[in-house]
Amino acid sequence: MSPQSVNTDSQEPTGGGPAAVIVLAAGAGTRMKSRTPKILHPLGGRSMVGHALAAARGLQPRELAVVVRHERERVAAHIAELDAAALLVDQDHVPGTGRAVQVALEALDARGEGVEGTVVVTYGDVPLLEADTLHALVDTHTREGNAVTVLTAELDDATGYGRIIRAEDGTVLGIVEHKDADVAQRTIREVNSGIYAFDAAVLRAALGRIDTDNAQGELYLTDVLGVARADGGRVAGLAVPDRWQVEGANDRVQLGQLGAELNRRTLERWMRAGVSVVDAASTWVDVSVELDEDVTLLPGTQLHGATRIARDAVIGPDTTLTDVEVAEGAKVIRTHGSASSIGPGASVGPFTYLRPGTSLGQEAKIGAFYETKNVTVGRGSKLSHLGYAGDTEIGEYTNIGCGNITANYDGVAKHRTVIGSHVRTSSNTVFVAPVSVGDGAYTGAGAVVRKDVPAGALAITAASQRNIDGWAAAKRPGTAAAEAAAAATDPTAVPALQEDGQA
Ligand code: UD1
Ligand code: CA
Repeated sequence: MSPQSVNTDSQEPTGGGPAAVIVLAAGAGTRMKSRTPKILHPLGGRSMVGHALAAARGLQPRELAVVVRHERERVAAHIAELDAAALLVDQDHVPGTGRAVQVALEALDARGEGVEGTVVVTYGDVPLLEADTLHALVDTHTREGNAVTVLTAELDDATGYGRIIRAEDGTVLGIVEHKDADVAQRTIREVNSGIYAFDAAVLRAALGRIDTDNAQGELYLTDVLGVARADGGRVAGLAVPDRWQVEGANDRVQLGQLGAELNRRTLERWMRAGVSVVDAASTWVDVSVELDEDVTLLPGTQLHGATRIARDAVIGPDTTLTDVEVAEGAKVIRTHGSASSIGPGASVGPFTYLRPGTSLGQEAKIGAFYETKNVTVGRGSKLSHLGYAGDTEIGEYTNIGCGNITANYDGVAKHRTVIGSHVRTSSNTVFVAPVSVGDGAYTGAGAVVRKDVPAGALAITAASQRNIDGWAAAKRPGTAAAEAAAAATDPTAVPALQEDGQA
């Protein structure tokens, strides 16, 4: 009998869910060489343990426990933030996966009548595991009436993993850790993923009978399988053909590989849902991002956090958006944006920096070399080139000229600029906040607007221009400018200087 395989496409979730999921996360993760605890390292916009919790919650268990020890305070705070209902359990000084599950089961038992039914065990550092695979595990476990069902994988290089020992008939006899395995056992390529479904009563009883008599001096959870079988329980293995789902990240090389694979899967999912991804190799999309049909992502696009892109919008090239809402048909080119919203048909970029609180209305525009922060731009209004707008409200169909700046900070406090609808501001206008400009008003070039401008008025602040004739000849004699001026006023004169101003 060959081991059964998981078919993640056709599994229907069972109603109700298992009694409990226990996520193991007490390990040290020294190979990451990091001041950040291993399971807090992110991929696809979520920590490793965040992915583990999402898969576990997908099973809809009645209880969810996470076992912690290493960097306890930081890990516990992170988990509490992600999943306030998860039970945090502290592992004591006794090492090993068996001990980790034992303390979790004791803590869960202490909460109520005692756990009955199916208990699933997963790891906090296996981020690509999907809830569908856990459903398949629990379904097989329940249908076959197993005492233990272990998820297994066939690996080309099984070094370091626990090996699955099967009987002639294919049933699982037990698991032997790599360090405890003999030469023949080390040739076995079917490995223990570390993910299991247990009958709670079998697990509780067996954990009380395992010991630390092994190469690592630890309480091995894997020893529970042998004990359960010796007691007459049925122990089965469910092979997962998709090895990525059971792969853990122990160092940054594996983290990088898992991150790239997760991104590849995310993009494939969106392409199948109707999103065009022109260059998957340079496009990174967090698992939390949402995209509509007919969105186009151009090369160099990175979408993070709660970013949501609506139908027919085109993002990129070279655009990074974090927590940005983009409405239908908008275009966002070469832009770096966060915590902002871009209206239907609006356009942003190239070379635009949208800081938090930027809200762009329908068909509005923020053009090249513009920085915005805490700005509301009404329908059809344009800030086309070169400037800064902060703490500003702009009405509808207003045109902000080139090089306009809001002076919103007086060195102590921030102040607001309010500009109405159908306003036309000329180049290099500076708005010294707090200040307001009424509907239909204009400003002159270089205006420094310190006082409110009434609706329909023209604000001019530059001093009137005075020309001093003959200034170049008088004050800069012998220069190219003086020669050019002389030639311009007397067409018969021959320039004495060369282009570069040298005689
Ligand atoms: C374990 C399995 C091995 C399996 C491999 C799959 C045992 C004895 N061995 O080996 O058969 O092939 O996983 O990756 O179970 N943890 C705790 N407390 C502990 C020890 C570990 O919570 O005292 C957690 C770790 O944080 C980690 C997981 O359990 O998430 C696995 O620990 P690790 O030390 O990586 O186990 P391996 O020796 O690799
Ligand atoms: Ca490991």
